[in-house]
Amino acid sequence: MSAAELETTAKAMVAEGKGILAIDESSPTIKKRFDTINIESTEENRRAYRDILITAPDCNQYISGMILFDETIRQATSDGTPFPKALIDQGIMPGIKVDTGAKDFANHPNEKVTEGLDGLRDRLAEYKSLGAKFAKWRAVITIGEGIPTQACIDANAHALSRYAGLCQEAGIVPMVEPEVLMDADNTIETCYDVTERTLSTLFNTLYQQDVAYEHTILKTNMVISGKQCPTQADVQTVADMTVKCLLNTVPASLPGIVFLSGGQSAELATAHLNAMNKTYPDLPWPLSFSYGRALQEPCLNAWSGKTENVEAATQALLHREKCNSLACTGEYSADIES
Ligand code: 13P
Repeated sequence: MSAAELETTAKAMVAEGKGILAIDESSPTIKKRFDTINIESTEENRRAYRDILITAPDCNQYISGMILFDETIRQATSDGTPFPKALIDQGIMPGIKVDTGAKDFANHPNEKVTEGLDGLRDRLAEYKSLGAKFAKWRAVITIGEGIPTQACIDANAHALSRYAGLCQEAGIVPMVEPEVLMDADNTIETCYDVTERTLSTLFNTLYQQDVAYEHTILKTNMVISGKQCPTQADVQTVADMTVKCLLNTVPASLPGIVFLSGGQSAELATAHLNAMNKTYPDLPWPLSFSYGRALQEPCLNAWSGKTENVEAATQALLHREKCNSLACTGEYSADIES
């Protein structure tokens, strides 16, 4: 394992004006996305769709890496180039989702714990040989009556730390993702409290397990009102509370922080990131994006499974990538949406 290699990868993931495109939907999740455009989730349809995302011309201006799924890292473009090679040829780093999903947490109704540690050392070695430079593991924290419990946060932080250690051993940068879900009716203050508790537990546990902060990327939720909350915090409040939460919990030596979009609209996710970078230009870490839905939704809708729509889908994707790239330096304006 080379520390220099991990450092180079981590820095490149959050290079100025660049972020990560998450295209690592598991088979059940991509089926849900395809259902919205009435497309069958066959292997060829999944390949054809990911082909659009991976080969969009000049997307390397905005995108430093893409997170692939186990199936996707073994697929190829229409001209037969393996997806990881197609990315590397454009100067984009392949990443890989390595958890095997969030499962019911025993004795804790409505809470989840993410699995996937068994055999992970061997899987990481294989993914590395296929070109993976970084890996993602997503933990899910649910807000509700009496939850999250500290037991759930601890169990997930423990698994995230074990995965992160194995990644660093393999020369792969861990992208640790504890996601506090935004689906409930909670206020932004509750989201703040839960996110702060989750992140401080996570960084303590990473420390206890000797995971190098310097070679770790955090992927987190923004501090935001629950979707069902009657009062929705405005963009500036989300920016202020998210940055406050990060400053209180994330070590300054982390090379970077990226956000998931979590069900926000594409434009709102961009506006939130922009407000953070515009208001707080001198934070200890770059703040960037690693969106799935907020980058892909307009592209998926434009494509709708039809070959004749590939160009329109590509343009829709590149537009969102450019908007979020501008948001990384606080230079986005809603004017460029029209
Ligand atoms: P969303 O941006 O759609 O939340 O997905 C990001 C992701 O990778 C979740 O693990």
